[in-house]
Amino acid sequence: MTWPTIDKDPARLLRPPNVADYDELRAGFCWEDARAALDGLPNGAGLNIAHEAVDRHAAGARAEQTAIRWLGKHDDVRDISYRELAELTGRFANVLEDLGVAAGERVFLLLGRVPSLYIAALGALKHRAVISPMFSAFGPEPIRQRMEIGEGRVLVTSRRLYERKVAGIRDQLPSLKHVLIVDGEDGTPPGTLDLEALLADASPDHTIAPTDPEDRALVHFTSGTTGQPKGAVHVHEAVVAHTATGRFALDLQDDDIYWCTADPGWVTGTSYGIIAPLALGVTMIVDEAEYDTERWYTILEEQRVSVWYTAPTAIRMLMKAGDEPRAGRDLSALRFIASVGEPLNPAAVVWGQEAFGLPIHDNYWQTETGGIMIANLAASEVRPGSMGRPLPGIEAGIVHRTGDDDDPGVEVEDAPDVEGELALRAGWPSMFRTYLDQDVRYARCFRDGWYLTGDLARRDADGFLWFLGRSDDFIKSAGHLIGPTEVEATLTAHDAVVEAGVIGIPDPMAGEVVKAFVTLYPGVEATDELMRDLHGFARKRLGPAVAPREIAVVDSLPKTRSGKIMRRLLKARELGLPEGDLSTLEGEPGTPGASDSRPGPAGPAEEAPS
Ligand code: WT7
Repeated sequence: MTWPTIDKDPARLLRPPNVADYDELRAGFCWEDARAALDGLPNGAGLNIAHEAVDRHAAGARAEQTAIRWLGKHDDVRDISYRELAELTGRFANVLEDLGVAAGERVFLLLGRVPSLYIAALGALKHRAVISPMFSAFGPEPIRQRMEIGEGRVLVTSRRLYERKVAGIRDQLPSLKHVLIVDGEDGTPPGTLDLEALLADASPDHTIAPTDPEDRALVHFTSGTTGQPKGAVHVHEAVVAHTATGRFALDLQDDDIYWCTADPGWVTGTSYGIIAPLALGVTMIVDEAEYDTERWYTILEEQRVSVWYTAPTAIRMLMKAGDEPRAGRDLSALRFIASVGEPLNPAAVVWGQEAFGLPIHDNYWQTETGGIMIANLAASEVRPGSMGRPLPGIEAGIVHRTGDDDDPGVEVEDAPDVEGELALRAGWPSMFRTYLDQDVRYARCFRDGWYLTGDLARRDADGFLWFLGRSDDFIKSAGHLIGPTEVEATLTAHDAVVEAGVIGIPDPMAGEVVKAFVTLYPGVEATDELMRDLHGFARKRLGPAVAPREIAVVDSLPKTRSGKIMRRLLKARELGLPEGDLSTLEGEPGTPGASDSRPGPAGPAEEAPS
């Protein structure tokens, strides 16, 4: 199915984009120049993320500018200027120093999106500790696993989260020495410290010690299908990529009001919900609350958000809510919308154009890449359904694996429109440096100088990349390999369908056949007539070999806390197979900690099973 290219409405661009000419920028770009656009620590003492994100602005013209505008869930608002942020994070760094925490030791964060989370993250980076933010909705077991693998030395959390989730596993965490409670004014649980009191006693002045750009800064866990989560390690040098990609892919400019809806428990909420916007000196909105249609439109309108970074699930929830909640609102400040995390169906891209006068700009990356790799840019045409083109400094290839583990190779595909694995030429600054304690697994991600993403894609003749599916999600039907993304994109092009998740189910003749799970717009009934129409719609566009054999209408699809449809779980449930690691499943009843579940960027409270 093809969708017409969207050319931008020049009136809605509002100002010249950072990247005027993609090809020219790409040809002239080198990472050394991107590095030179940052300050570095004074006196050549290296590179530290927190210096770039906080201290350099506090010492310059932006000191009194709001760095973070925090919107509390009870409608309280707190503005923190760059100067204040420097002082608060300085205090936090001094607290760690006083506690005897060494550079390189791990500070875990288990908090909702409250100011202390941001202060602790940046303060710990100043101290050269390694931070690992966790979703506050995690139950005790995922917390224990991550803190064990990461040998957490310090945990910053709230009284309630500690009592519910950590107190009971504390004796299983021998490396955990200090628990800092952010809201301990009325007392702290045994074995914990009152962070506010410590901060009040600490000096706001902190000089960041020399930091090697290769020093570890962040660990983000990604959970595989089974087994232990993997801790992807990132270093201070990553800030070079965060800032460059924030400029190119999010088009962040000086006076932007920027809102990233992702939680820092997911890498998006750290790379682009803390580091990139602050390093670029913009004002960022942090919303403590979960997704709510009215609230989100109100934030966009009242905060005059100009650049907005969100996720496909959230976009589809807004689509589902219809036009009415948007009616009469002044959203004229908005000039750029981007989305990440899973395939953005073409209907959602086009909906952006109708609803805001702006297409939604899809971009692509992974926990391992640390930053955006492929994107639709502000100045470029948008081909709905495409992830866009590789950013300057990023070489993307479509490859086929050759040989085996003993003799691993790749064959690079030069021809356009051929399916293969998406690979990225190793060496960009925010590339992960290892998986904690899993060097072999890390090494297996690379072949012939390429990092292999595990995603399948194709590149068209103009260099635009099209996501086809994760290799594990591919369906093998009668000799064809079917990517779920194409089928989902087609189903969601039907007026009745909001969202679709597609899997393969066993079939005696074809090996596997396609089964789709769809959610419908409110008020649409799953009548026989609609189902016939939907099957016909899919067959006409996809052909009988690819169109779903079965379509099931469901109230909601299982998703991760970061908003990804969990196809493997749809499949496991369909086939009665073991469900595997569910620690990142959103709002699952019976999951420890789900009672106060706070999902990821798209936090679909309304869709969470109750
Ligand atoms: C996987 C990475 C995504 C932010 C970083 C955290 C899928 C990501 C897209 C996109 C289709 C996408 C891929 C990728 N994904 N962006 N624009 N279109 N799929 O990411 O949690 O490590 O997940 O998300 O499968 O490998 P993550």
